[in-house]
Amino acid sequence: MRVTMIGTGYVGLVSGACFADFGHTVTCVDKDAAKIARLQKGEIPIFEPGLDELVKDNVEQGRLFFTTDPTQAIKQADAVFIAVGTPSRRGDGHADLSYVYGAAEEIAALMEGYTVVVTKSTVPVGTGDEVEAIIKKKRPDAQFAVVSNPEFLREGAAINDFKRPDRVVVGTNDERAHEVMRDLYRPLSLNETPMIFTERRTSELIKYAANAFLAMKITFINEIADLCEEVGANVQEVAKGIGLDNRIGRKFLNAGPGYGGSCFPKDTLALMKTARDYKAPIELIETTVRVNTARKQKMAQKIVDALDGNVAGKTIAVLGLTFKPNTDDMRDAPALDIVPTLQAEGAKVRAFDPEGMTEAKHMLKDVQFASGPYDCVQGADAVVFITEWDQFRALDLDRLKDALKTPVVIDLRNIYRPHEMAAKGFRYVSVGRP
Ligand code: UDX
Repeated sequence: MRVTMIGTGYVGLVSGACFADFGHTVTCVDKDAAKIARLQKGEIPIFEPGLDELVKDNVEQGRLFFTTDPTQAIKQADAVFIAVGTPSRRGDGHADLSYVYGAAEEIAALMEGYTVVVTKSTVPVGTGDEVEAIIKKKRPDAQFAVVSNPEFLREGAAINDFKRPDRVVVGTNDERAHEVMRDLYRPLSLNETPMIFTERRTSELIKYAANAFLAMKITFINEIADLCEEVGANVQEVAKGIGLDNRIGRKFLNAGPGYGGSCFPKDTLALMKTARDYKAPIELIETTVRVNTARKQKMAQKIVDALDGNVAGKTIAVLGLTFKPNTDDMRDAPALDIVPTLQAEGAKVRAFDPEGMTEAKHMLKDVQFASGPYDCVQGADAVVFITEWDQFRALDLDRLKDALKTPVVIDLRNIYRPHEMAAKGFRYVSVGRP
């Protein structure tokens, strides 16, 4: 089928490349001419493992195209996906839908023949109705359907999550659109991926409910970790003990500095706003957001406490800046709260991240960026692990200890084991463990 993807960010680029890899003919459209020029040269503007080969293969096979001009792409498309950004609106946290509505106007002006318009971006409940109204107003004659098809892609695992999803969710009441969506995802039916067809608002809410629940699950284990520290329990053992109950599930029970990223913070706020607007507030999520926000400061305090309550004039080495490993994304990363708080208490901060430093340079000031983990810790009074990159998991601990001025390690991702670190002579502080 012929697919047009409007927006070439984390979601649009991965979805477009994967649809092409399914055998469809995909044209990715973006207003950013510089980005499109890079993509046409095979350069990938984001760090997503495997994406460069996937794009390159499909461009070479003549299934994947990039353009700034949506005209032909929309005219010929069987399905046009709206995969543009829906950032949190400054102030009230409501999703900014101006890019979505702009895409809807553009599609309305250009589409020909029966067209399925798909909202792939995470959009508040009811947005599909708005998009439908915009198109109908401009083109009362047009044959089209607006369908919700939320993505559940984790950055750093996005290709796998697209090709081997737990489920595909499609929101539509239009029979013909139902068939188009089934054809689009047919390659997935080969491995019996469940496709859930529901109506549009339900589909939109499924996305928010999923992300909000995951954010709440993480915040729950983070609070359990704080209790573990007080009662002398081990949060990793607690997580294992509850996670084996298949009603709970093992995943997303890793205690840490709090969730970040481009989705959980934005989606929890947007859901809270929608719920309040409809007078059905979700207080569990309101609490989740409050607790998660406060956690970043708590983590900074944990670091200060590990240095006897005073970091003034001390050098702190930070390993990991991105909101999670295997991404270059710094959006709402815990480091963006923790580092400035340490600096405000007089600490000098050095930092290293395998992929995030280019972004981080625009978001953190007065930080010395190092060339690697050992360079970063050289002469520092303490080292803090904020992001659990694989390359931090097996550092030479003797070399680390020699490089540090004082052997203090604060491990916010429980990468190392307390007894091993104590045996090496470190003062080792982690999350939720004695
Ligand atoms: C998330 C959802 O997982 C994905 O389905 C949705 O489409 C987009 O949002 P993403 O934000 O890329 O994906 O990352 P994810 O792996 O979910 O992690 C989100 C945050 O939670 C990160 O800051 C991560 O460090 C944190 N996290 C995750 C934990 O602190 N503990 C965990 O056990 C898991």
